[in-house]
Amino acid sequence: MGQQRPMALNVVMLGPPGAGKGTQAERFARTHGLPKISTGDILREAVHNGTPLGCIAKRTMDAGELVSDEVMIGIVAERLKRDDTCPGFVLDGFPRTVVQATALDEIMDKRGPLVVVDIVVPEEVLLRRLAARRICGSCGVNAPVEWVTACGNCGGRLVHRTDDGNEVVRERLKVYHRETKPIVEFYSGRPTFQQIDGNQPPDVVTTSMDAAIRAASLVPKEARL
Ligand code: AP5
Repeated sequence: MGQQRPMALNVVMLGPPGAGKGTQAERFARTHGLPKISTGDILREAVHNGTPLGCIAKRTMDAGELVSDEVMIGIVAERLKRDDTCPGFVLDGFPRTVVQATALDEIMDKRGPLVVVDIVVPEEVLLRRLAARRICGSCGVNAPVEWVTACGNCGGRLVHRTDDGNEVVRERLKVYHRETKPIVEFYSGRPTFQQIDGNQPPDVVTTSMDAAIRAASLVPKEARL
C-alpha cells in the first residue's frame, strides 16, 4: 500500500500594516521549510529592478493605495504554480480584498485548505512601530534594533521604507479598514480561521502563531474549507 502524502500547510497571514505579518511569516516559513510569498516584497523587488511591474507599482505603493486586483491575482496565481509550494506556503500580504480572497479560493481548488491567521494589534502600537521601522536600502530586510546604521546581512545602509511616512501610514490604515478588514469576516466562519494577539514580544507572538496553526491543522479534513 502506498504511503499517504502529508496534507499541505497553506497559511495566509492577515493583519493591518505593522501587525508583524512579515516578521512572523518569515519565522514560520523558515522553521517549517515552506516558501514565504510576500506580495509587498515581490512589488518592492520589481520597483528596485525597474521592471514594468515596478513602474506600475511604485506610485501606488508610495501613496499607500492598493495595486489592482487583476495584477496581484496574476502574480500570486503564477507564483503558486511553482513546485516549491506543493508542501504548502506562507502568504504575507495577499489576499487584501474580497476579490483577491475569492480568487485565492478558486486557485486553491483541490490543493488543500487554507489556514488563516489574523494578527490583531491596536492602532497606536502600529503607528509607533511603523514610525520606528528601518529597512536595508540594499536587500530590503526589516532591521532589528541591534542594527544601528548598517544591515547585518549585507552591510547596506538602513533607511525608512518609502511608504512609512506618517501621512502614507494613515492612508494605508484607511485602505486596510476599507478593503482588507472585510476579508476577516470572509474567513472568520471557517474552522481553520485563527486570531492571535500581536501586541506581545515577537517570540511570544511566534509561539501563539505556532499553537494557532497547530490547532487549525487538527480540524478534521471533512470540516475544512
Ligand atoms: P506590504 O509590504 O504587505 O505592507 P503592509 O501590509 O502594510 O505590512 P507591513 O510590511 O508594513 O507590516 P507587517 O504586518 O508585515 O509587519 P512587519 O513584520 O514588517 O505591502 C506594501 C504595499 O504593497 C501595499 O501598501 C500595497 O500598495 C502593495 N501591495 C502588497 N500586497 C498587495 C496586494 N495583495 N494587493 C494590492 N496591493 C498590494 O513589522 C513591522 C515593524 O514592527 C518592523 O519594524 C518589525 O521589526 C516590528 N515588529 C514586528 N513584530 C513586532 C512585535 N511583536 N513587537 C514589536 N515590534 C514588532
